[in-house]
Amino acid sequence: MKVKKVVVPIAGLGTRLLPATKAIPKEMLPLVNKPIIQYIVEEISKAGFEELIFITHSSKYSVENHFDTSFELESTLKNRVKRSLLNELKAISSLSINISSIRQGEAKGLGHAINCAKNIINNEPFAVVLPDMLLREKKLGFNLALMKKAFEKNSRTSILVAETSKKELSNYGVVEVKRNNLQKELFEVLKIVEKPSAKKIKSNLFAVGRYIFNDSIFSYISKVKPDKTGEIQLTDAIKLHLKEKDSVDAFKLDGTFHDCGDKIGYLKAIVEYALFDKSIGKDFKTFLKKYEK
Ligand code: UTP
Repeated sequence: MKVKKVVVPIAGLGTRLLPATKAIPKEMLPLVNKPIIQYIVEEISKAGFEELIFITHSSKYSVENHFDTSFELESTLKNRVKRSLLNELKAISSLSINISSIRQGEAKGLGHAINCAKNIINNEPFAVVLPDMLLREKKLGFNLALMKKAFEKNSRTSILVAETSKKELSNYGVVEVKRNNLQKELFEVLKIVEKPSAKKIKSNLFAVGRYIFNDSIFSYISKVKPDKTGEIQLTDAIKLHLKEKDSVDAFKLDGTFHDCGDKIGYLKAIVEYALFDKSIGKDFKTFLKKYEK
């Protein structure tokens, strides 16, 4: 079955980046001259999805606005003959993907956010993309397209995993895997644990925010009990999935990632995107040389 839909949850509070995110959604923070969410939507569109569903909150309307046509701005740029800016602006609203949104009234966790899309998903398979995890790939959308293609062949739930340091791992959903004997590049998930303590970590892999599910995930989410902080975790739903002997595949990220949800990750992303930017990269590199000693 074709995977057409993607759920992008943006209803979280973004507390790690406060006070910057008090009035501005973290998804709208810029990397050079584009907000983070635009890179994410471009990745999804390039991977070949047709429908994007934001799980949103009343404070996040600027994300939806960003993907709408802005007639006033476009006509001003046209009158001032600012053609390249106009084209850049038009490219946003003409991305080949349909965007809609659903509200999550209260931030009750990632699992709860995904569950808000149940009716709109309507028994179809779907992807989940976390918007604060930016991927740098040899070709934008490469990893997600690979997972999509695999699901369309074998209908198996999959998650994208990436390596990181021991210190970083305890901030994430840590994944233990074993190699699939038939397909070298594929792994089978044995265990997933949300933010384990350093002592309990037996893997160097974590879930890097790209998933493909079939609609059975909703029944697992409905069985998850809130954690200590009162949130319904997606990781716990995946745990139930594994417990039911429902296998989950893991794809290893081909590329690198930036966690833009925290200060250091966001700053590293700014530096890297600025260095690779065609118009400012060279000047920025010269500027950074000042700090080399
Ligand atoms: P995070 O925990 O990384 O983001 O959730 P957060 O809650 O916004 O940020 P912090 O931890 O307070 O700094 C991963 C993704 O899930 C969404 C977030 O918006 C983020 O994109 N999310 C999380 C929801 O949509 N709803 C929730 O209830 C929780």
